[in-house]
Amino acid sequence: MKAIILAGGAGSRLYPLTQISSKQLQAVFDKPMVYYPLTVLIASGIKDFCLISTPQDLPRYQNLLGDGRQWGVSIEYRLQHRPEGIAQAFIIAADFVGSDDVILMLGDNIFSGGDDFPRAVTGFDGGATIFAYHVKDPERYGVVEFDRDGKAVSIEEKPRHPKSSYAVPGVYIYDNQVLEIAKAVNPSHRGELEITDVNLEYLRRGKLQVRRLSRGFAWLDAGTSTALHEASSYIEAIERRQGIKIGCPEEAALVRGFLSINHFETLIDCMPKCEYSEYLRGVADEWHRLQGEKK
Ligand code: G1P
Repeated sequence: MKAIILAGGAGSRLYPLTQISSKQLQAVFDKPMVYYPLTVLIASGIKDFCLISTPQDLPRYQNLLGDGRQWGVSIEYRLQHRPEGIAQAFIIAADFVGSDDVILMLGDNIFSGGDDFPRAVTGFDGGATIFAYHVKDPERYGVVEFDRDGKAVSIEEKPRHPKSSYAVPGVYIYDNQVLEIAKAVNPSHRGELEITDVNLEYLRRGKLQVRRLSRGFAWLDAGTSTALHEASSYIEAIERRQGIKIGCPEEAALVRGFLSINHFETLIDCMPKCEYSEYLRGVADEWHRLQGEKK
């Protein structure tokens, strides 16, 4: 399965922060925002990435993430000239997806906890899999309605009167049909190719699976200055409490076996002495300790 990370948009709600840096490059506590979705995907076993961003911001992502080789993955880049909707990602990156299944993740969605995504990726067997998460303000999102048996019966994009409290987070898994479905979507009243319309087409075909994310799972929004601050505070609190970092691509790549321990330690040697590299050093020490125990 391939992965697309969509990191476009003007980020106007974060002005003036977005005057100096793209929204998905803003700091969420101690890392750039895009590290979080990237890490979730690496932890799900994905090796082939395509990042989509604006002409202005794409070079910044290329600087930060390179070709992915340092983490044992591959990262390609594509331009989105105008923000014309999430579903446009499948038109822009059609050649990258080729004949594969694909997982799309929005670069500003931050998740923590649980193994729902790796399990959904491993267990994917065609059609579409999306997720549902209970929120207080569903009207800001795509909203999914379930029937009494827990089956999804409708999805509405930012409804004024939501039919449930279940929002659809920015993680979508599709089979290859999505390329053809996205091409056939018409722009909505806000002039965008809506991802909700893609999901509705899968629902119409009887091929949409909606998995509810478990209660302990955190899905954080970083769309406004307040939400960004809250996301940082949340990550900081969990990291301080547990002594474990959320959103470290290096660590996820080591755990997944994409990087050897030697390669991992070389990466650390190239980093400045800081909290981040000290944390990774601790991960390497723990790795050696566990290997010793196994012998
Ligand atoms: C988009 C989608 C929406 C989804 C949300 C998740 O909203 O259109 O269905 O619930 O992402 O972050 P937008 O970011 O365009 O407001």
